Amino acid sequence: MPTAPSPLAYIPFVSVENMMRFVHHFGIEKILVELTDAIEADYRRWDLFEKIPRLASHSRDGVIELMPTSDGEAFSFKYVNGHPSNTAKGFQTVAAFGLLARVDTGYPLMLTEMTLLTALRTAATSAMVARHLAPGNAKVMAMIGNGAQAEFQALAMKAVVGIEEVRLYDIDASATAKAARNLGDSGLRVVSCTSAQDAIEGAQIITTCTADKAYATILTDNMVGSGVHINAIGGDCPGKTELHKDILSRAVTFVEFEPQTRIEGEIQQMDASYPVTEFWRVLSGDAEGRGDARQITLFDSVGFATEDFSALRYIYSKLQGTDFFQQIDILADPDDPRDLFGMLQRAA
Ligand SMILES: NC(=O)c1ccc[n+]([C@@H]2O[C@H](COP(=O)([O-])OP(=O)(O)OC[C@H]3O[C@@H](n4cnc5c(N)ncnc54)[C@H](O)[C@@H]3O)[C@@H](O)[C@H]2O)c1
Repeated sequence: MPTAPSPLAYIPFVSVENMMRFVHHFGIEKILVELTDAIEADYRRWDLFEKIPRLASHSRDGVIELMPTSDGEAFSFKYVNGHPSNTAKGFQTVAAFGLLARVDTGYPLMLTEMTLLTALRTAATSAMVARHLAPGNAKVMAMIGNGAQAEFQALAMKAVVGIEEVRLYDIDASATAKAARNLGDSGLRVVSCTSAQDAIEGAQIITTCTADKAYATILTDNMVGSGVHINAIGGDCPGKTELHKDILSRAVTFVEFEPQTRIEGEIQQMDASYPVTEFWRVLSGDAEGRGDARQITLFDSVGFATEDFSALRYIYSKLQGTDFFQQIDILADPDDPRDLFGMLQRAA
């Protein structure tokens, strides 16, 4: 009996190697720009999506999360971890993979690595929000926390917002040296700093992207002047924040999906009446974005499932006609749909 799977059993699988080839083939800045537009397009049809706070399994050292959503036609989920102590053991803080499926049959469409894709989509989401909320003509950004996400963040702000200078700071000088080296040919003016205070000097966009499984104070209130946009992406778990709460008292705060951000974001430090605006409302015109040039706008980013959905659909749409994937027979698909046991016997 033949043991070959039926054509319906196969879906494209994008390995890490193929994702790397994919990014270089199309060019990282072009991908960041297109991803930003794809994520924004889905934010503009927010109502269509199923939205729940992600499922989080917490342990002493970190968290493992599942992030599902659907727009009624496609379904996606991402598996992602967050383990701040990992880098000391030679593992990454964040690693991920994800799946896109069709809703009408429930059959998967694509399985892909999402560690690189998460860095791309997080940077694209930051840039999407910054292009609407940052002070006009922002040219300088501070990048506090120079780990795995840092270069992606800087390149997205350059490609989407027009940032020209990035000011780097990390408590670990070797991380700053790594980021400076990687951004050397990017066209950005790269300034390595020795304190967070130094890094935010003259910056209109301040990105905090540190990893610590504890309440941290990367920025204090006296450090932050008026007329800046803070892109806070490292505080994304219960008990894990980056900003002193006094900054939140002065800022106008925007979030992805409020029920999830109340649990995971910077705003977990505030009581439930602290006002926030879900960002999609700025895009739909239901809510105001930046009110005036002197305001502090804060994007309290934790990462939301629709951003991964957009990223997965974007990759899937660009795979056709390329060889940046392998076909894997992920589904048992018997010739007679009810004869699963008979199919098993083909390999006896
Ligand atoms: N919001 C989102 O969508 C999203 C997506 C991905 C990752 N994240 C979060 O972003 C953070 C960074 O992720 P990563 O993959 O770059 O982690 P990473 O471990 O590779 O890098 C974190 C860096 O922060 C530095 N750091 C720690 N404490 C600091 C401090 N007090 N001041 C300055 N630097 C400090 C570390 O030395 C390290 O270089 C993590 O907390 C992660 O959970 C958020």
